Amino acid sequence: MALDSKLKAGAYLVKSYVTAMPRVIYRATFSLMFDPKGTQKFVHQILNAQDIETDDPILGSRDITELMNGGGDIQITGPYYARRSSDTRLLMELACLAYLAQNLHPKLIFEIGTFVGRTTRLLAVNIAPNSQIVTLDLPQEQVKQDIGVDYRNTTEASRIRQVYGDSRFYDFSAWHGKCDFVWVDACHDYDFVVSDTRNALNMCRPGGWIGWHDYRHTAWWSGVTRAVRELRFEYPGLRHVRGTTMALLKKPEKEDKRNE
Ligand SMILES: C[S@@+](CC[C@H](N)C(=O)[O-])C[C@H]1O[C@@H](n2cnc3c(N)ncnc32)[C@H](O)[C@@H]1O
Repeated sequence: MALDSKLKAGAYLVKSYVTAMPRVIYRATFSLMFDPKGTQKFVHQILNAQDIETDDPILGSRDITELMNGGGDIQITGPYYARRSSDTRLLMELACLAYLAQNLHPKLIFEIGTFVGRTTRLLAVNIAPNSQIVTLDLPQEQVKQDIGVDYRNTTEASRIRQVYGDSRFYDFSAWHGKCDFVWVDACHDYDFVVSDTRNALNMCRPGGWIGWHDYRHTAWWSGVTRAVRELRFEYPGLRHVRGTTMALLKKPEKEDKRNE
């Protein structure tokens, strides 16, 4: 490296350090007493950024294009600029989901956790008109959000079937072995994720795919992280999708999962 570039790199390092350190020191000391919630938020923000920027040491991370062959243009159609509390909003995640839907050419998708229907609509926009998405959420009277409002009255709504129930007790048997893709994004507590995951595995056809949102979310959603990591012994093909919080599994074609 030329001296000039070395000096520039050094100056940049000092600048970053001087800008960041007062905040870091404050958050690690006084803020713990005066503003503990602010400290917690700060730590979570750092962890979230780390989760997105670094590879997952347990499952390993891959680009979506390494996990699934494909290409072409994806579509993100809808008011995704509007902030919502509980939705999938990272552009990279929306794009990867759209890529999955485009390149998998699914006939049937099952989503566990509709919320306002943002990912439901995104998936619907990127599948063929004669394909279907079934999406499950708790009964409307048990939740505050208007379930499915984001896909209602859209062209894609005809591809979507909304169903209601608690995923722990819901009878999924009508879809066993039939789904090309199952998207798991309901309650993020460990027991719920374990149960949703078993149901997803039952619904997914051999060679189909299962995705989990908020897998790589060290700060908040350890239930998803723990449940999915435990699954790696049974399904060594599980991977984290680089640049997202998503985990992805291609269900093996054959019984012996370790040969995949
Ligand atoms: C994180 S949100 C889903 C977000 C949505 N996939 C999106 O990105 O647009 C989780 C949803 O799961 C629902 N949910 C939570 N527990 C559930 C359960 N036991 N059974 C079914 N749905 C549940 C919640 O009501 C909420 O709407």
